[in-house]
Amino acid sequence: MKILITGSLGQLGSELAPALMKRYGENNVVLTDIKSIEEKPQSEQGLFFQLDCRDSQKLFEIVSKEKITRIYHLAALLSAVAESRPQEAWDININGLYSILEVARVHGCSVFTPSSIAAFGPNTPKDYTPQDTIQQPTSMYGVTKVAGELLCNYYFHKYGVDTRGVRYPGIISNVTMPGGGTTDYAVEIYYEAIKKKRYTCFLGGDTYLDMIYMPDAIKAAIDLMEANPAKLRHRNAFNVSAMSFSPEDLSAYIRKYIPQFEISYNIDPVRQALANSWPNMLEDYAARVEWGWDPEYDIDAMTSDMLEVLKNRGA
Ligand code: SER
Repeated sequence: MKILITGSLGQLGSELAPALMKRYGENNVVLTDIKSIEEKPQSEQGLFFQLDCRDSQKLFEIVSKEKITRIYHLAALLSAVAESRPQEAWDININGLYSILEVARVHGCSVFTPSSIAAFGPNTPKDYTPQDTIQQPTSMYGVTKVAGELLCNYYFHKYGVDTRGVRYPGIISNVTMPGGGTTDYAVEIYYEAIKKKRYTCFLGGDTYLDMIYMPDAIKAAIDLMEANPAKLRHRNAFNVSAMSFSPEDLSAYIRKYIPQFEISYNIDPVRQALANSWPNMLEDYAARVEWGWDPEYDIDAMTSDMLEVLKNRGA
């Protein structure tokens, strides 16, 4: 097994990379990112190439030279940034994925591609959102995620490329900050709670969204790629959820540990509209049955861990 990661310096990549190295060996994981490594010295372990995933010539060279067998394709623009630069979001999210699928087709690699809760839209049932349901997103990010799911399924059925993916909720981590997402408040809030004991939230207090703690997000990416293909009725992409909460709910849990914590609101209309168009809570039965998805962290366990880690680090 030799793995290539795109977007390895991003929110998910920064933590998935060391987890994959631990599991499969440091020499079996090749890191790539559009940024150069100097910007992120802590990721200096492992083999690193600066790569724009749309540069298929360079991508083919790396995959062939390094004898890559599996690709974790994490490079993408998140929802709020995509909404501010929709043409660039289409180019990076779709043409980047296309070159990954092409190299996988030619070199026989398996591919993990994250989809998102953003692959749903205002016409989708909001509560217990089913695995197979209406997908008519109204954001460019969501459009690229649905198109990406379909493209990955196409490469599986047409060419037998082993494509798999999950629809990630908001990912909460204490290592790397997300960049330009709608669910980012649920990360920022912990840093501000420790530093200032108050947080001004850009989403309304009763906005419910699915969330997942990073250790579970990593577990999903590894377990799905190791799952027995004979059991997979779905491919791209599985609903996964670990918890659903609103900013008010999260504040109440933070207050259990920091009683003086206060939340106020200054709503960003762009991100509020994105959040309003997404489900409140996904139903993830298919992931549980087809590959044993079983998250470890709920909102309380996550909050206690986040605050402890950030406090110890002096964040
Ligand atoms: N966390 C992502 C975002 O907010 C959703 O996939 O953009």
